[in-house]
Amino acid sequence: MKSVIYYFSGTGNNLAIAKQLAKELGETTVLPMSELVQNKMISDEYEWVGFTAPSYFSHVPPYVEECMKDVSYNEKQKVFLIAGCGGNRGLAIQDMRKQVYNSKKEVDLEYMVMLSGSYILSYGSFPMWYQKFFIKQSYKKIHKMALDIKNGRKRKPLGKGIFYKTKYEAAVQHSIANYAMIGKQFKVSDKCSACEACLKICPVGNISLTDGKITFGDHCNQCMGCIQWCQNHAIDYQGKAAKRKRYHHLDVKRQDLFQR
Ligand SMILES: Cc1cc2nc3c(=O)[nH]c(=O)nc-3n(C[C@H](O)[C@H](O)[C@H](O)COP(=O)(O)O)c2cc1C
Repeated sequence: MKSVIYYFSGTGNNLAIAKQLAKELGETTVLPMSELVQNKMISDEYEWVGFTAPSYFSHVPPYVEECMKDVSYNEKQKVFLIAGCGGNRGLAIQDMRKQVYNSKKEVDLEYMVMLSGSYILSYGSFPMWYQKFFIKQSYKKIHKMALDIKNGRKRKPLGKGIFYKTKYEAAVQHSIANYAMIGKQFKVSDKCSACEACLKICPVGNISLTDGKITFGDHCNQCMGCIQWCQNHAIDYQGKAAKRKRYHHLDVKRQDLFQR
C-alpha cells in the first residue's frame, strides 16, 4: 500500500507528524504542500492521500486552501486530514475538508495532533518538558492513526475545536487578513549573514535575496519559520521576538524544511 502525505509547516510540527506517520506506514512519500501548486493531479500509485497542516488563528493558513483547491483524485483513493496544532484546532479540519469535498471526494479519517505552540509574536518556546511530553503523546497517536489507515477504517468527521466560538470569527478573520501586511514589515538586522535559510524554509516562497539583502513579499502566511529558525536571530517584527526563546520541533532540523 503506497501513500502520499502533503504538509505545510513553519516550525516543523506538521513535518514531524508527516514523517512519523510515513515511517509507521512504510512506502509513503512526504511532500510539501507547494508541490500541489505545480501539479494538481494525485498520482494513481497512491492508495491513501493525506494532508497535515497547522491551525493559525483557528484556520489553516490560506496557502493550504489554495494548494488543496481543485486537486484531482482517482475514484479509489482515500483521504485523511490532520490538524497539527497547539490545542485549539478551530475550523482547520473543516477548511481542508471543504477543499476535498469541492473535488468531489469523501474524507475517510480526520485527526488533531497537539504539539507546542509556535506563535513567537505572542509567546516564546514552551518548556522542554512540555515539548517532550506532547511529542511523545503525538507519536502514540500517530501509531494509532497508522493502524486506522492500514486497516482501511473510516471515522466520524471531527467537529470544531472546543475553544472555537462563532462570535470569534470576525476577530479571527481580521487577524488572517493582516498576515501579509505583518509579514511585509518583518525587519532583518545586521546580524543577518545572508545564509538564505529563511528563504529556503518559507513554505509560501515569500522571501528573496535582493542585492545581498533579505526582502519580504506580500503573501506571508505567518508561519514564523523565518523568525524561529534564523540561527542569528536576525529577523523580528516590532521587536516582539527579541527576548523570546525560539521554538522548533525537536526531531526536525532546519534543512529538513528547505524547499528551494
Ligand atoms: C500565527 C499563528 C497562529 C496560531 N494560532 C493557533 C490557534 O488558533 N490554535 C492553535 O491550536 N494553535 C495555534 N498556533 C500554533 C500552531 O498551530 C502550532 O504550533 C502548530 O503545530 C505549528 O505547526 P508548524 O510548525 O507545522 O507550522 C498558531 C501559530 C501561529 C504561528
